[in-house]
Amino acid sequence: MTRPDGSTLVLGLETSCDETSAAVLRDEHELLGHVILSQDVHGVYGGVVPELAAREHLKRIDDVVAGALAESGHSAGDLDAVAATTGPGLVGPLLVGTAWARGFALAIDRPFVPVHHMEAHLFGPAVEDPEAQPPFVALLVSGGHTLLLFAPEWGRYTLLGATRDDAAGEAFDKVAKVLGLPYPGGPELERIAREGDGKRYRFPRPLLNRGDAPGPGDYFDFSFSGLKTAVARTIEEVKARGELDEERCHLAAAFQEAVVDLLDQKVARAIRWTGCGRVLIGGGVSANGALRARLTRRVGSAGRLFVASPRLSLDNGAMVARAGLESLRRGTAQQLDVSVSPNRPFPGATPLLNRQLRPNE
Ligand code: KG4
Ligand code: ZN
Repeated sequence: MTRPDGSTLVLGLETSCDETSAAVLRDEHELLGHVILSQDVHGVYGGVVPELAAREHLKRIDDVVAGALAESGHSAGDLDAVAATTGPGLVGPLLVGTAWARGFALAIDRPFVPVHHMEAHLFGPAVEDPEAQPPFVALLVSGGHTLLLFAPEWGRYTLLGATRDDAAGEAFDKVAKVLGLPYPGGPELERIAREGDGKRYRFPRPLLNRGDAPGPGDYFDFSFSGLKTAVARTIEEVKARGELDEERCHLAAAFQEAVVDLLDQKVARAIRWTGCGRVLIGGGVSANGALRARLTRRVGSAGRLFVASPRLSLDNGAMVARAGLESLRRGTAQQLDVSVSPNRPFPGATPLLNRQLRPNE
């Protein structure tokens, strides 16, 4: 498993949605090769078409892996393990990546390491920053998930909260669509929000009631569908008045402000509850500059915010390789019989129980 020079070389593959990506990682931090191919076939449909995504992965995966290996200066025989996302995600895309990776691992006689997509997002910052290690409070915000966790150590997580309906990224994408912005909407919405006045409109912040108490229930959970509906209704009114072109950036800014506010307030609760001022954010929405700025203020000088560069915040193979390496080191890898699972549960995560309330008091 370990190379003659004592280092470990892991190939990481990510194909859970519409990015085909491969990375070659040497030990925890040396990203020797990394290719991320964003599929552009979905734009005209305004969202990812699963069957098209699977076909694109199939077409590109050989070249993407060859590109990452070439950039790393290594050949397949040098690899110590092959890690791939086995879920959650779109089943067709997951099957393509996982079947490819398992076949490849078998051919080169190396272990195959299954990786959970959202756990991999926890490892995005850890590729670049040796300090991005537990303990931390983690906010994972992607197109399909919104999760608030406490991680005392890698592989052991307390699930504090999750979204009751839409994911944060999904809300960005849907509002962007109603605003008439191209897909994927999140980055476009952020771009126009920079020109807007976020105070011109006031949108609801669901599940922030003052009466909430820590523990299972509303306290740590998220809800974005009511906010999305409120924003969509206002956009329709503005459109009916023929003012959408002037108001678009203000609507975008006010929506973004509401999401950032919600996420920030829940992170604040998690910091208070755990007593841990180290905060890590991951997933596509963590590339958002307004969210990064707000959480930087939130943790202040007493805490730390860990966030990956935008390239490693969005879906990528490097985080999969890094998560796979951790799994190898802990000896939980080499399960050749694993299959893909679109709803794979978060490994090592236990829900918050009443008796766990207020551990720091
Ligand atoms: O983690 P990710 O790349 O894929 C999934 O696992 O879903 O996240 C994609 C999501 C999309 O909803 C996209 O619109 C959103 O992340 N996103 C953003 C930004 N960049 C990507 N949302 C807000 N601001 C951004 N800058
Ligand atoms: Zn993701």
